Amino acid sequence: MELNGAAAIITGGASGLGAATARALAAEGVHVTVFDRNEAGAKEVADEIGGKAVGGDVTNRDDCEAAVNEAAEGAPLRIAVNCAGTGWVGRVINRDGTPHDPGAFGFIQQLNVIGTFNVMTLAAAKIATTEPLEFGERGVIINTASVAAFDGQIGQLAYSASKGAVVGMTLPAARDLSVVGIRVNTIAPGLFDTPLLAMLPEEARAALAQSVLFPKALGQPDQYGQLVVSIATNAYLNGEVIRLDGGIRMPPK
Ligand SMILES: NC(=O)c1ccc[n+]([C@@H]2O[C@H](COP(=O)([O-])OP(=O)(O)OC[C@H]3O[C@@H](n4cnc5c(N)ncnc54)[C@H](O)[C@@H]3O)[C@@H](O)[C@H]2O)c1
Repeated sequence: MELNGAAAIITGGASGLGAATARALAAEGVHVTVFDRNEAGAKEVADEIGGKAVGGDVTNRDDCEAAVNEAAEGAPLRIAVNCAGTGWVGRVINRDGTPHDPGAFGFIQQLNVIGTFNVMTLAAAKIATTEPLEFGERGVIINTASVAAFDGQIGQLAYSASKGAVVGMTLPAARDLSVVGIRVNTIAPGLFDTPLLAMLPEEARAALAQSVLFPKALGQPDQYGQLVVSIATNAYLNGEVIRLDGGIRMPPK
């Protein structure tokens, strides 16, 4: 797909993988709308790349609708990338014998699954109204899972369940949207050097880097952005989940 002149919405675009995606797509001539609950951060990234910023919550359908409408103003919306999400640590039975907090479990599904569902469905409805391009293609949706969807570690019950759901939505969404020429793919990142991991002490980050097969390094957010551009431009890539992880397989803990 030709990216130059198309519009994109990036959730979680104020930070980490989403911000890197916003920069990578803008460099290809895409009109980027950064949608994040951190409105000031979204504005900072948008100002840097000459894009638009919308503050809001991906779990709120009205916020998502407003953001998608804004993204589709002025250029045909063809790309939606879901990066908003977060993790949670909690075991089925915690060390003190108490069961997993159901509220925390629900919160993570709400953010990582329903948030992705909201923007995917609303963006798809909007992309479906654009003029078809070569081969009848109208656009692409890229969701973010995690290697935790496959190698969930101790304490990752809620997070792995949510990312497993993002993986599980990929093929049916691609099948549903094939009739309107919209592709759906999912990236499952390994360990990336984003503010999420920056909170760890340097020693812990170095140890994590050593656990990667090759290269022995944390992933850089721009490598995620690079894959987004590649997926968006390659019209034959559809219904796929791609691990971007330096070959890591996470151990139990
Ligand atoms: N960093 C990693 O190593 C890694 C690994 C695997 C998967 N992931 C996934 O990648 C995605 C991005 O992670 P990151 O490392 O860039 O994190 P990050 O914390 O740097 O960025 C996440 C962004 O999402 C926004 N956000 C959170 N909740 C929101 C909501 N309800 N509505 C709108 N925006 C919201 C935050 O404000 C933030 O800007 C997440 O889904 C995460 O689970 C990250």
